[in-house]
Amino acid sequence: MHEIAAKRESFRIFDRIAGIYDLINDVISLGLQRFWRRQMIQVLPKGDALNIIDLATGTADVPLTLIKEKKVCSVLGVDLSQNMLQVGRKKIEKAGLESRISLQVGDAMSLACESSFYDAVTISFGIRNMPDPDRCLQECFRVLKQGGRAIVLEFGQPRNRVMLLLFQIYMKIFVTPIGALMGHATAYRYLDQTVKTFPSGDKFIKLMNEAGFTQAGMKSLMGGIVMLYWADKLKK
Ligand SMILES: C[S@@+](CC[C@H](N)C(=O)[O-])C[C@H]1O[C@@H](n2cnc3c(N)ncnc32)[C@H](O)[C@@H]1O
Repeated sequence: MHEIAAKRESFRIFDRIAGIYDLINDVISLGLQRFWRRQMIQVLPKGDALNIIDLATGTADVPLTLIKEKKVCSVLGVDLSQNMLQVGRKKIEKAGLESRISLQVGDAMSLACESSFYDAVTISFGIRNMPDPDRCLQECFRVLKQGGRAIVLEFGQPRNRVMLLLFQIYMKIFVTPIGALMGHATAYRYLDQTVKTFPSGDKFIKLMNEAGFTQAGMKSLMGGIVMLYWADKLKK
C-alpha cells in the first residue's frame, strides 16, 4: 500500500493491537517510553491550571503522565482508534481521574474543537502516523491560545552514523520480530518504515515554523533516536 494511504488507515492497525500495545511498548523501548514521555513535562508552558489536548493519545499514557503535574488542570485525549481509547478509559477509571481526563474519538488533522482554547497541545509518537502532518500542525496552532505551546515527541534519525546503524539493527532484529512474534508483523514493519521516512531535527522544526509557530526548540534523547520538539503560538 502507498505510504499515505497506509497512514490514513494506520488507526486500524492500532485498533487491532490495542490490547497488547502497552506491553509491546514497554518491551521494545525497554521501559524507556515512560522516561521519554515525562520529558514533555519539562517543556510545558508557564502558568497554572493548564488545559491540554493530547492528539493521537492512544491508551492515554500522556494524559496520565501530564495530569500528575501540579500546574495541569485537565487533559483531553483524542484518537481515531476506539479500541486504544477503550484501554485508556479503563486506566483512567482505575486511577480515579475521570473528572480531569476525558477521551474522545477524533482526527488530529481535523479537530472538532474550538479555536484558541488550549494552553498546550501534545503529541507523542503520533504525528508520524498522520498522512498530512502539516495539516495536523495547523490544527495544533488553531486550537492553541496565544502564548500556548505545541510539544511533540517522535522518533528521530540519529545523526551519528554508529547510533543510526545501531538503531536500524535494533529495529530489524528486535522490534519487527517481537511484533511478528505477537502476531502483528505488518504493524511493526510499518513502524520501521514510518520511522525511516519521517522528517526529524531541523526538517521537523521547519514544518512547525511553516504552520505558524515561533521560538521552536528541540532536544535529542538517546543520541537522536527520540526527539522532543516544542514551539509557541506567539502572543500578538
Ligand atoms: C504509536 S501510537 C501513540 C499513542 C500514544 N500517544 C503513545 O505515546 O503511546 C499512535 C496513535 O496515533 C493514532 N492515530 C493515527 N492517525 C491518527 C489521526 N489522524 N488522528 C488521531 N489519531 C491518530 C493511532 O490510532 C494510535 O493510537
